Amino acid sequence: MEMYLKQTVFIFLLAFSLSCVETQENNPLLVEPEEETAVDQVIRHKAAFNVGAAVTRNELNSASYANTLKTHYSQITAEYEMKMAHIWNGVNNYNWTNADALVKFAEDNDMEVHGHTLVWYKSFPNWFKNANYDSASFEGHVKTYIETVVGRYKGKIISWDVANEIFLDNGGLRSTDCPVFKTFKDPVAFYGRCYRYAREADPEAKLFYNDYNVVLAGGKRGAMRSMATRFKSEGYPLDGIGDQMHYMETTNRNTIKNGLADMALTGLLIHISELDIRINTGQSDNFVYSTTEQQKHANAYKEIVEAYEAIPQSQKFAISTWGLHDGSTWLTDWWHPKEYPLLFDDKFEKKLTYEGFLNGLK
Ligand code: XIL
Repeated sequence: MEMYLKQTVFIFLLAFSLSCVETQENNPLLVEPEEETAVDQVIRHKAAFNVGAAVTRNELNSASYANTLKTHYSQITAEYEMKMAHIWNGVNNYNWTNADALVKFAEDNDMEVHGHTLVWYKSFPNWFKNANYDSASFEGHVKTYIETVVGRYKGKIISWDVANEIFLDNGGLRSTDCPVFKTFKDPVAFYGRCYRYAREADPEAKLFYNDYNVVLAGGKRGAMRSMATRFKSEGYPLDGIGDQMHYMETTNRNTIKNGLADMALTGLLIHISELDIRINTGQSDNFVYSTTEQQKHANAYKEIVEAYEAIPQSQKFAISTWGLHDGSTWLTDWWHPKEYPLLFDDKFEKKLTYEGFLNGLK
């Protein structure tokens, strides 16, 4: 009897859905138009690699923010909530609230998380710096920190910027304000061991070195190449390198293209990790983001995405923008209040830069 009922329901449903298809075909008003094309108009769907955005936990409370993010992006980076100073309150004292919330948001919405960043000279907590550890205690604590953080998110965070900004543009090691430089005779070997600790804590996570001006500064690229070679010969893991790409509309695009091609010669994964393009390049109080400026801006995005598309497909990791919309960007503090560097405006409307990004994709 039960079987008979099930069969009847099944046949009924089948007939019903077939009749819907029929009706839809016959009645154009019922067909949802351009569903296929629409997908092609969304950066996360069109790109053959992940498209990320730097986010903060608070902003995710806004429905428009969260919806825009999950509609257009496939990956997130914490703008600051996964940095050492935000997680590490004391030797055995970790604050996971915000980092956990970001990872949960990504899980709930089928997005990936890029971890940023484990060791950055600017984010050693004050309690740690004030302790003036000798090199053995310094390393012991950082090792535990890396194991704890990477281990907690094992399988949930697909990649980590293990070290961030250790080189100067001329290729020298950063020394000013750098606790690692002050503590270790051979800082690069210390960083190498940090990559190893991260690998041991999550063997699947891709491990990156991240820096700014990489495509512009040949000296820095040289230092990164030497570090990669040394890591390889000494058995330290490294999967990828990132250029933050906080550039300007006026930054020479050939230089960007050649720099990316040069980065790719390492054979490593390449991440455009913090992309934002300043348009008010003269830091003018009277700047107007006119249609002409918007078009120039869109073209800059298009050409940068094209330059990224030109590297071998297997080395494309992701392009991540540093923020989601112009209403919330570090550049209005750091650069100029009249700055509009991203793909969405402060009302979450797509900008021409979005079309530029989209058109740059293959
Ligand atoms: C910046 C964030 O945008 C700010 O909110 C934070 O206060 C300081 O750091 N290079 C990096 C990023 O690797 O972590 C920086 O992010 C921007 C420069």
